[in-house]
Amino acid sequence: MKQPEKKYLKDYKAPSYFIDTVDLHVEIFNDFTTVKSLMKVCRNKEIADSNTPFLLDGKDLEIISLVMDESLLSGDIYQVEDEVLTLFKVPDTFTLEINTKIQPHKNTSLEGLYVADNIFLTQCEAEGFRRITYFSDRPDVMSKYRVRIVADRKKCPILLSNGNLIGEGELKNGRHFVLWEDPFKKPCYLFALVAGDFACIESSYKTISGRYITLKFYVDKADRDKCDHAIESLKKAMKWDEEVFGLEYDLDLYMIVSTHVFNAGAMENKGLNVFNSKYVLAKKETATDLDFQQIEGVIAHEYFHNWTGNRVTLSSWFQLSLKEGLTVFRDQEFSSDIGSRAIKRISDVRVLRASQFAEDAGPMAHSVRPESYIEMNNFYTATVYNKGAEVIRMIHTLIGGEDFRKGMALYFERFDGKAVTTEDFVKAMEDAANIDLSLFCLWYCQAGTPKITFKRTYDQDNQTYTMIFIQEIPDTHGQKNKKQMLMPVKLGLIDKKGNDMPLKLYGDSDKKTVKTESIVQLKQFTETFVFTGIYEEPVPSVFRGFSAPVIVNVDYTDEELMFLMANDSDDFNRWDAGQQFFLKTILLLVQDICDGKSLYLDEGFICAFRKTLLNKKLDKALITAVLTIPTETEIGDRMDVIDVDGIHMAREFMLNEIAEKLKTDFESVVEENRSEGIYRIDPLSIAQRKLKNLAISYLSRVKNENAGGFVYEEFQKAKNMTDEISALSILLNMESLFGNRAVDMFYDKWQNDTLVLNKWFSVQAASNRFGVLKKVKELTMHPRFSIKNPNKVISLIGMFCQGNPWRFHQKNGE
Ligand code: BES
Ligand code: ZN
Repeated sequence: MKQPEKKYLKDYKAPSYFIDTVDLHVEIFNDFTTVKSLMKVCRNKEIADSNTPFLLDGKDLEIISLVMDESLLSGDIYQVEDEVLTLFKVPDTFTLEINTKIQPHKNTSLEGLYVADNIFLTQCEAEGFRRITYFSDRPDVMSKYRVRIVADRKKCPILLSNGNLIGEGELKNGRHFVLWEDPFKKPCYLFALVAGDFACIESSYKTISGRYITLKFYVDKADRDKCDHAIESLKKAMKWDEEVFGLEYDLDLYMIVSTHVFNAGAMENKGLNVFNSKYVLAKKETATDLDFQQIEGVIAHEYFHNWTGNRVTLSSWFQLSLKEGLTVFRDQEFSSDIGSRAIKRISDVRVLRASQFAEDAGPMAHSVRPESYIEMNNFYTATVYNKGAEVIRMIHTLIGGEDFRKGMALYFERFDGKAVTTEDFVKAMEDAANIDLSLFCLWYCQAGTPKITFKRTYDQDNQTYTMIFIQEIPDTHGQKNKKQMLMPVKLGLIDKKGNDMPLKLYGDSDKKTVKTESIVQLKQFTETFVFTGIYEEPVPSVFRGFSAPVIVNVDYTDEELMFLMANDSDDFNRWDAGQQFFLKTILLLVQDICDGKSLYLDEGFICAFRKTLLNKKLDKALITAVLTIPTETEIGDRMDVIDVDGIHMAREFMLNEIAEKLKTDFESVVEENRSEGIYRIDPLSIAQRKLKNLAISYLSRVKNENAGGFVYEEFQKAKNMTDEISALSILLNMESLFGNRAVDMFYDKWQNDTLVLNKWFSVQAASNRFGVLKKVKELTMHPRFSIKNPNKVISLIGMFCQGNPWRFHQKNGE
């Protein structure tokens, strides 16, 4: 066993040897696979000489033979130790043939080549290629690949790898072969191979320059009717990238393989993406609105990697955010453009606050570009992905969309076919926009969520409004006394009538056109902005659209929060004001529980809630978002010591009060938002279902004998998975026997659909009923559960640990 070894960014050196071409010959047999790799290697003369050994990574490989420039190498010329193959003396350029044997059937690491439901498939990112053959398993070694796959035709009629198919044929004994060639150089983490039996759903896309791209989706034969949405999503993503960034797909073939046994969501292998089936398969009976939206986002994400990640790749794994942060930003923008921008922003920020802020505040805190790692797989974090995307978004906000697009073009012009760093990206943006972002770069290396205290004063006599922002960057382990960060603050000032005021900064020339929204930059620990011509005391709206990933402290009164909730022209801040108002109220209730006081919800609160619920001018999706009470996790995030039971009680009290007081309103909301027509997944239809199901969940809380029967009827009536699973989950949060009945019915109906069955596990694990822990334990013994399948583990155990905080943090410690 290899000892864990820490790698440091500061130790980065370019590779000593380059591998220009790789010919792989993979022979799949029943219980083992042989891999012959023929490489053309050349020394990197800039840093290596004839004494520099050639090192290759390898894991769980059995060496059969090594041949250099056509002569067989004997055991004394090379050494294999600690997962490294060392060749001590090598010429300037040479060919190296390595023959190895691997055991895909025994490989349970979900990396390298493994078997999943009789399918052979690979996962190489981050460091999995070394489980297939000895190689320089690092992203800055880029090579051209040719892959020959041989297997039994009956068991594996379909044999896939990256690039274009250039040959195929029959062999003896019922075996056959295919030959693939990828014309683009790539790092080995983008290599893929798939062998098995599938249904293939084909479609075609015409690019902006008039080329036809063949799209092929490989799925389980039983799932062939569930690909339409993924195919449409892919086409939309291809079109969007052409329109927004001028980026066109570069091969003639784009393949997506779907599997139920996969450790991640999906993987962007060049020309051959591998997807977790939950991000491909959908039809209205089996997939929820959220599933449909996530499929669209993940398909787009992996497609966008073709340029941000594949054509321009990483110099080392420390740069992971260069591809992931940027590609998350791109998929967020895509979803915003084709759906609802405000709703997308709200859900992205909720994810950021719930997972990334928590990461940044605890022992897992690390910078967007980490300084060191032992196991790279542990660095696919919310910080690298989601905070990384926020950092890109801030650049976008600072320089504007037009210069951002120029910066992207410059980035590809400079670095196509290269392995680069986050500095290279930022430099391209600086040069395109002609600004200095050196202070901004601290976002890549300083961990921790900045805290911003915002203070304001109105001077009636001079009609000025002064805004002061004070920033504080918390210490994180290994990082103390940090520097101030540069960040954009998008802001507006709202007058008593609810209109945005014209904004003129003290010192601005009179000629400057006056706007009602402005973006100011924080560069110092304390920044002061004075606005002039302010005719009455406004309510300030700051960090609109969440213009920087920070925690903002403002001493808003309840009245101000309700005012913003009703009037802010920025939909995100409107939502956020509501959330702050709810949080404030719940935290006071938690305190009251602590102090043994009886609980009471202010009339003003119910009034504000009702006004939003019945506001006909507001977009329904926004109504639902505004009226969604923060989760127990989000509430806990605001407490130094999390009072798990107190939070649960306070939140339940609030929900029950709202339900009792607004019963008739919810009843009409349910009736008004039923859609009997055909199922659509446009933002309005999704919003209607959401609002209706939110109202049903409130009505389930109204104290009357028939609440269970009412929800059970909704469950039985449901014609799509969104409504069906929503009703089931509501039932499982009620102490009603209808819940047990519904769980069994759901199982009988869906036991043959793997993805729906995963939902069946999840919904039970998320139940707040007494005895849920016992139930989860029982379900781990269920014949359809498997501890070896990540989707099953995440559905059941993951949901219990992450989606059920109250029962998970049970007081008795069990
Ligand atoms: N490159 C990753 C897949 C990956 C993740 C490989 C972890 C190795 C280890 C892929 O592009 C990705 O980021 N997938 C995400 C989904 C995406 C929409 C954020 C995933 O798998 O969750
Ligand atoms: Zn990605």
